[in-house]
Amino acid sequence: ISESTLSITVVGASGDLAKKKIFPALFALFYEDWLPENFTVFGYARTKMTDEELRDMISKTLTCRIDNRENCDDKMDQFLKRCFYHSGLYNSEENFSELDSKIKMKEGGKPSNRLFYLSIPPNIFVDVVRCVSVKASSKNGWTRVIVEKPFGRDSESSGRLITCLKQYLTEDQIFRIDHYLGKELVENLSVLRFSNLVFEPLWCRNYIRNVQFIFSEDFGTEGRGGYFDNYGIIRDIMQNHLLQILALFAMETPVSLDAEDIRNEKVKVLRSMRPLQLEDVIVGQYKGHSKGSKSYPGYTDDPTVPKDSLTPTFAAAALFINNARWDGVPFLMKAGKALHTKRAEIRVQFRHVPGNLYKRNFGTDLDKATNELVLRVQPDEAIYLKINNKVPGIGMRLDRSDLNLLYSARYPREIPDAYERLLLDAIEGERRLFIRSDELDAAWSLFTPLLKELEGKKIAPELYPYGSRGPVGAHYLAAKHNVRWGDLSGED
Ligand code: BG6
Repeated sequence: ISESTLSITVVGASGDLAKKKIFPALFALFYEDWLPENFTVFGYARTKMTDEELRDMISKTLTCRIDNRENCDDKMDQFLKRCFYHSGLYNSEENFSELDSKIKMKEGGKPSNRLFYLSIPPNIFVDVVRCVSVKASSKNGWTRVIVEKPFGRDSESSGRLITCLKQYLTEDQIFRIDHYLGKELVENLSVLRFSNLVFEPLWCRNYIRNVQFIFSEDFGTEGRGGYFDNYGIIRDIMQNHLLQILALFAMETPVSLDAEDIRNEKVKVLRSMRPLQLEDVIVGQYKGHSKGSKSYPGYTDDPTVPKDSLTPTFAAAALFINNARWDGVPFLMKAGKALHTKRAEIRVQFRHVPGNLYKRNFGTDLDKATNELVLRVQPDEAIYLKINNKVPGIGMRLDRSDLNLLYSARYPREIPDAYERLLLDAIEGERRLFIRSDELDAAWSLFTPLLKELEGKKIAPELYPYGSRGPVGAHYLAAKHNVRWGDLSGED
């Protein structure tokens, strides 16, 4: 096997994602010796650049692990020597054929495996995939293509994209990436659930009152308004990142850890959900705001955004799963940009203790005594469980405490970036953390009617100040389902 070669081509090499995430992830894998011996990296884009210029560009964003800087410069040099560039058009078979010749030279006649990472806008996916498949695929090994969202804007466009890509590639060759699935705590969700006796038996409507999936960023669309305005927060975060986490959270126990077994369960749970309706959702958009001498721009102040844009930069939604395990349990999602904090977390609120002996110690607000399990995906990864505890001393005073697993204390080694894990999985042919086409269909089916209605009826988003906690409508939506957002309880 070590005789075979691996060529990784980053299509769209001069783009932001490539520079910030893909090349650094490849270097990190190389640094940690995860990549096969004979690997080569190619950058492909329209910009004219020499190999040296590409290396120069990439080198600016490579970093070594904080706790292990030894040989870093050497390793970087070794890595950069394996990086090459080819400039070409995205729809030119001829240009891809030239790339093929360059790859072949590096392969030196050895068996070849080829991975293409499409870090490009979706309107050119199909052209590139056609050129790759006709002119630059491997003749004696595998060819795989990683694609990034957006996978369409709704069920129809996503369906068309799936069909078009399948003209040139089999489902097996397509790796639809959702980088949230590569995050450490998201991977750990199944471990926590299925390998601890104390969680799985509680994982159902009998014990869980509601589940919350929260994503917030403390910056706006800065510079990405052009892309964002065509999609909005529901497509950008909810339909993919949060829904994927929800599916992993709520799925039945898979037959095994095989990719197909897991993805079968995810599809099942997605198909058991009721498509969202207008009344299940509230949308918001951030407006300009000044704090002291500093002022923050509103969404429509972004020059790439139309002044009258109704695109939501915030949304909250209540979803329901119509199956025996979850009947009636609200699954709430909240996602927003330009909020007061940057955070992604899963919060599980348990039911009240029946006939609680200590009821009177909590006054009238029994919610204060709710057990809550929090998985903080980022930043500062942690898992903690809020429990009621006796304050030490004479007398009987109770308070809330945390059973706390703080990753930085327990696992001081830096956690790999999601892209590292996912790139390595694609290289190894592990599909568990990639989205199968029927999963994607099911995900779009849930959101498409809602998106059409929001856009058709031109529903105006509730404005919220940049840097705030978001629109108050999110509270009302939660309250309608008897829920309080855990992240706003003031005690986190
Ligand atoms: C991307 C979205 O998928 O995820 C961005 O398009 C968002 O809008 C990003 O900022 C968040 O990713 P992370 O890993 O920084 O939380």
